[in-house]
Amino acid sequence: MNSKSDYIAVFDSGVGGISVLRQLRAQMPKERFLYYGDSANAPYGTRTAQQIRQLVMAVSADLMDRGCKALVVACNTATAAAIDLLRQTWPDRIIVGIEPALKPAAEHFPGGCVGVLATPVTLREEKFQHLMQLCQGKCQIIQIPAPGLVELVEQGKAVSPDAEELLRPLLEPLKGKLQALVLGCTHYPFAARSIRAILGDSVALLDGGEGTARETRRRLEQAGLLWDGPGEIRFESSLPGDGILSLSRSLLEQE
Ligand code: DGL
Repeated sequence: MNSKSDYIAVFDSGVGGISVLRQLRAQMPKERFLYYGDSANAPYGTRTAQQIRQLVMAVSADLMDRGCKALVVACNTATAAAIDLLRQTWPDRIIVGIEPALKPAAEHFPGGCVGVLATPVTLREEKFQHLMQLCQGKCQIIQIPAPGLVELVEQGKAVSPDAEELLRPLLEPLKGKLQALVLGCTHYPFAARSIRAILGDSVALLDGGEGTARETRRRLEQAGLLWDGPGEIRFESSLPGDGILSLSRSLLEQE
């Protein structure tokens, strides 16, 4: 199969979804990916759900019209606000979202204390509240909104004194208490070193990227749509200029 619909579209409010793209590439190195970052409109996580739905629908309509074989919404915030609408609009297309990895955290740390670092919208939306209800009896859950961190990652400052300064008041009081921290925003894995500088190495950091990649692979396999190479990754951004594209490429290759 070699048509214009051979590629998988991966979409985020900005460069954060590249943490998911890394997992997708690791699990499907022969696939062709188009990564679209809506960096001109980032952050999504402090907007209203209605605004987010409008932005997500506009980008997704374009990616669908261009014939992607699957759409990966590599953004917890966009998934929380818009995944139901996306699935209603394109019921026959493969659409995979991401949610904070609270379920695996609750399973691995029964009776423990788990923090969820995410955008204010993700924590507020019904999807996350439902997830909380499912996991609440299994462990203690602490919600930690982190407005401002997405902007730093977009500026290439995920690991920086600024990131540590933003995170310290949020995380330091939880040091010694948390067994695990769920990184419930796809931008945050890039700030893992800043997080570790505050919490130390004994806290488990979990994110939903690997599960999302596994689900994407499963759906494509089921539909007979896996492609056998050569693999390719293209980047596009709503923000003009080369800066954001070179940041995207360097985040993809970052350890
Ligand atoms: N990467 C998005 C997420 O996973 C960030 C949302 C934002 O732009 O605030 O939630």
